[in-house]
Amino acid sequence: MRPFGHVTFCGLELTHPVINASGTFDAIAARRVFGDELLERFPFSAFVSKTVTVQPRQGNPPPRLWELPAGLMNSIGLPNKGLYGYLAEDLPQLAALPVPLIVNVMGFSRDEVAELVGAFAERDEVAALELNVSCPNVETGLVMGADPDEVERLLVAVRPLTGKPLIVKLTPNATDVAAVARAAQNAGADALSLINTIRGMALRPGSSEPWLGGGTGGVSGPAVGAVALAQVNAVHAAVQIPIIAMGGVRSGRDARDLMNAGAALVAVGTESFRDPAAGARIVFELEQLSSQTASPARL
Ligand SMILES: Cc1cc2nc3c(=O)[nH]c(=O)nc-3n(C[C@H](O)[C@H](O)[C@H](O)COP(=O)(O)O)c2cc1C
Repeated sequence: MRPFGHVTFCGLELTHPVINASGTFDAIAARRVFGDELLERFPFSAFVSKTVTVQPRQGNPPPRLWELPAGLMNSIGLPNKGLYGYLAEDLPQLAALPVPLIVNVMGFSRDEVAELVGAFAERDEVAALELNVSCPNVETGLVMGADPDEVERLLVAVRPLTGKPLIVKLTPNATDVAAVARAAQNAGADALSLINTIRGMALRPGSSEPWLGGGTGGVSGPAVGAVALAQVNAVHAAVQIPIIAMGGVRSGRDARDLMNAGAALVAVGTESFRDPAAGARIVFELEQLSSQTASPARL
């Protein structure tokens, strides 16, 4: 296992390897509740914003959540203020956080992604960009992140627009995630993050109608931990660029497993809804684990 503590990730100096997963920790709301204490004891070594799209989005109709025996399914539908609302209202608040800001963006065409990347390329407050490629390209009907050629064409279009690190967030709903990872690397991605949520469905009890307003939803939490581990392991074997791993992390032990499978950083997602202090706890647990020498008795 890698030693715990300071990490250099794509040129960013981070105090530890634990960050948040996009869309699962609202730093602006947390600042309202906890005030400056949040800044003094910020749990993550970088902050990843929820997905920003070019146009404002209302998100999906309710219900948006379904609890699973070992996780959560959501069809939130990426509500957000849109690029210009984010730049005017959210960016100044997120820039006040004491850690580097990674902005997660998603477009419904290559031109939209290019508009987002181009706009954030000019902003000094933004340390890196994460490309959420889990949506269909309206021009081809293909989910951008499920197809190596789509990912390559996307990177060819947006790579020249910024010198900032580009992190491609892979979807687990791909036939061959390692092939997509290789395509992203070869077309200029600086890092990869995985896994996003896995498509799932629930029925309105006793009916054949979907429960979620969006029809299907994304499964996250402990239920997807083993999938995340397998995919991080496969992607690590396929590429040389660094990996941010997420999916079902509840404890330092889960984080350590993903790092042993090849992750440079680990992100905490659904667990932050169950335990808002999960980020800080997982940092502490990971530190404890790395100060112990590996021995079967301590596994
Ligand atoms: C309620 C919720 C909202 C999410 N919003 C986003 C988002 O805006 N952008 C994104 O790329 N991923 C989003 N995700 C996916 C997470 O960032 C993460 O990839 C996934 O949940 C797996 O990690 P976990 O099992 O620790 O939650 C969201 C997940 C949840 C549960």
